[in-house]
Amino acid sequence: MRKPIIAGNWKMNKTISETLELIEALKAPKFDEGVEVVLAVPFTSLSEAKKALEGTGIKLAAQNMHWEEQGAFTGEISPLMLKEIGVDYCIIGHSERRQYFNESDERVNKKVKSALKHKIRPIVCVGETLEEREGGQAEKIVKEQVLKALEGIDKGDIEEIVIAYEPIWAIGTGKTASSDDANNMCRLIREVIGNKYDDTTKEKIRIQYGGSVKPSNIKELMEKEEIDGALVGGASLVAEDFIKIVNY
Ligand code: 13P
Repeated sequence: MRKPIIAGNWKMNKTISETLELIEALKAPKFDEGVEVVLAVPFTSLSEAKKALEGTGIKLAAQNMHWEEQGAFTGEISPLMLKEIGVDYCIIGHSERRQYFNESDERVNKKVKSALKHKIRPIVCVGETLEEREGGQAEKIVKEQVLKALEGIDKGDIEEIVIAYEPIWAIGTGKTASSDDANNMCRLIREVIGNKYDDTTKEKIRIQYGGSVKPSNIKELMEKEEIDGALVGGASLVAEDFIKIVNY
């Protein structure tokens, strides 16, 4: 059985004091214990968030990292820095990084390998643009992104990885992929893993859907067989909404 994983990606939102306020609001209620809850906060908030989350069972994620441990890479954050804070997960290859910061499949692959080496669990994002979907290319693009991200990764490490299928046209637009479309793409991703590794491995990997996930659509998405969780943007910034999503 794959444990459902719901992660809030706060993106470039929340100062340190705002982070602590939101965490306080999220701590008050009881989250469903059957769901793994992860918060991906900005770099500047990670240390304080780690302390604030102590004892809650909520996991902490970074939103990006460099693959090198140290060096002349002005403005970058290394896996060692994240590890010392006690970060559990790191989002890698989010479409906003691919679109605005030239994140290539090759870099995504380097980051995934480095994260695994440092025992930081990667949440690897893949997804097609609207043009690609309308041109009938969605499956090809997603398959390629998955294979390139996992190049050179051993079977034994696959369980540590979460894949987030986030169609770019559904991010921040209010448009959600239909639960069937989302499920079909998650199935395709699972098949790609099955073909590259084996059937046991394909059953182990957790695959999230992301893109305008809200309290009103989470239940339908989570009922689908291939969808193991959600990567939530906007709605994760509103405590009431995120709580409803986790306790779907
Ligand atoms: P929204 O939920 O705001 O559409 O963002 C999705 C996302 O990009 C999560 O990583």
